[in-house]
Amino acid sequence: MRDQNNKGNIDVILLVQKAKKIDIGRNIARIDQETMDKLNIQTGDVIALSGKKESVGIAWPSYPQDSGLGIIRIDSRLKKNTGASIDETIQIRKVNAHPAQNIVLAPISVKIKSNPRFETFVKRKLNNYPVTLDDLILISIGISREITFKVISIRPSGVCMIKPETTLHISETALHISEHIAEDEGRGADNVKYEDVGGLHKEIKEIREIIDLPLKHPSLFNKLGITPQRGILLSGPPGCGKTLLARAVANESEAYFISINGSEIMSKFYGESEKKLRKKLRKIFVDAEKKSPSIIFIDEIDAIAPKRESITGGAERRVVAQLLTLMNGFKRRGRVIVIGLTNKLELLEAALLSPGRFDRIIEIKLPIEKSREEIFGIHTRDMPLEISVSIQELAKSTQNFSGADISAVCKEAAMSAMNRLLLEIDLDSEDIDSELLEQIEVNVNDFNQGIRKISRNIKIREKLIGKNKIKDNNNSKV
Ligand SMILES: Nc1ncnc2c1ncn2[C@@H]1O[C@H](COP(=O)(O)OP(=O)(O)OP(=O)(O)O)[C@@H](O)[C@H]1O
Ligand SMILES: [Mg+2]
Repeated sequence: MRDQNNKGNIDVILLVQKAKKIDIGRNIARIDQETMDKLNIQTGDVIALSGKKESVGIAWPSYPQDSGLGIIRIDSRLKKNTGASIDETIQIRKVNAHPAQNIVLAPISVKIKSNPRFETFVKRKLNNYPVTLDDLILISIGISREITFKVISIRPSGVCMIKPETTLHISETALHISEHIAEDEGRGADNVKYEDVGGLHKEIKEIREIIDLPLKHPSLFNKLGITPQRGILLSGPPGCGKTLLARAVANESEAYFISINGSEIMSKFYGESEKKLRKKLRKIFVDAEKKSPSIIFIDEIDAIAPKRESITGGAERRVVAQLLTLMNGFKRRGRVIVIGLTNKLELLEAALLSPGRFDRIIEIKLPIEKSREEIFGIHTRDMPLEISVSIQELAKSTQNFSGADISAVCKEAAMSAMNRLLLEIDLDSEDIDSELLEQIEVNVNDFNQGIRKISRNIKIREKLIGKNKIKDNNNSKV
């Protein structure tokens, strides 16, 4: 779809899709050749993207398989800056970016002391980066650290490009997330996105189909006379990304989001009366209905709803019964979806799995080699890696590692690189020399050390799980 105003000033409407991992943080928008021709632009040209807000990115050629599909791939920062989410449309057009004379950035949530050297460091990182007022910009500094800045002033107005001659100033006053991402209230409070989840593509697709369709297009279901699925259970071994995935769902979905944790609730249980606890549970469901469409997310659900026969106390049994009733009751009223998470499916009350309650179980397994490669990619995204480090090799040598194990390996590797450099850093000075930081590289040896260390932990864990499995098999029928 396009409108033509005059040559070179054409709007094209495209469907937003997520960026490939390799493109994250580069401010690029992948569009196909046909779109580039329509807009009369080439790779590297600046384009304006208008969703609910307008921002700018750099046009980059699409992946061959995307050609002709009418899609644009942008990362979450660009999605945030344009107020567009996946599967929504966005309007793009060619713009002329003027060299910025002056730009002021305010850090979000962190205070930064005025420091010309740091300003030069940031400016160098942003060379040839197009910006507009109110854009959020991520700057990675050192290993695995990112600071988000907001453009609070820019001259001339409109779209500008940061150049070596630009005067860049960093404001000493930090902005607070609550002021600026206010629309996130009642949704996931963190920034996890689908692109932060490695592997699990089929699982994400399945969840999105269950969640997005009925929440966004309820009329479709009314018309077909079917009730959409209301409960999903994510089950699988610890550390494989269940909670991570749920956090991404919370951030990427438009729905109101309520999150509770089964074991936290139950650990307070003994301090509170059973009545109070049941009331609390009911209130969560009532709130969710009021604010629907919404998602209730119950992490570690096995703690609230273990098998009834394994419970001895009448009070606990009534709490399980309450949850079962709530799952039934809200069914026909609001557009509410419940996502339960557990790594102990076999301990869960079977009645919860009957139709109308959690009628879809999605298994999240230990990552296969290809997924491990992606997870390594995610956790080393902001790490300066020595050229000889091969993510493929790392994935090959980490069979049986969970996502959490891989994340731990990367942290260990980074720490090992850091230790090497610590000797050179002046620890008494408040800011770390940015040039020294730029020299840090994580090498193969750092990773191997990490892998060895985490392997030991996994062996111990496997022994423990092995023992528990034998116990469970003896005690349970599921
Ligand atoms: N698929 C993945 N992609 C990227 N990172 C992952 C993945 N799986 C796990 N991780 C890393 O491990 C951490 C822990 O994972 P998460 O909390 O999601 O595990 P879980 O499946 O919920 O485990 P549990 O059953 O113990 O609650 C994540 O915060 C993330 O850093
Ligand atoms: Mg979890």
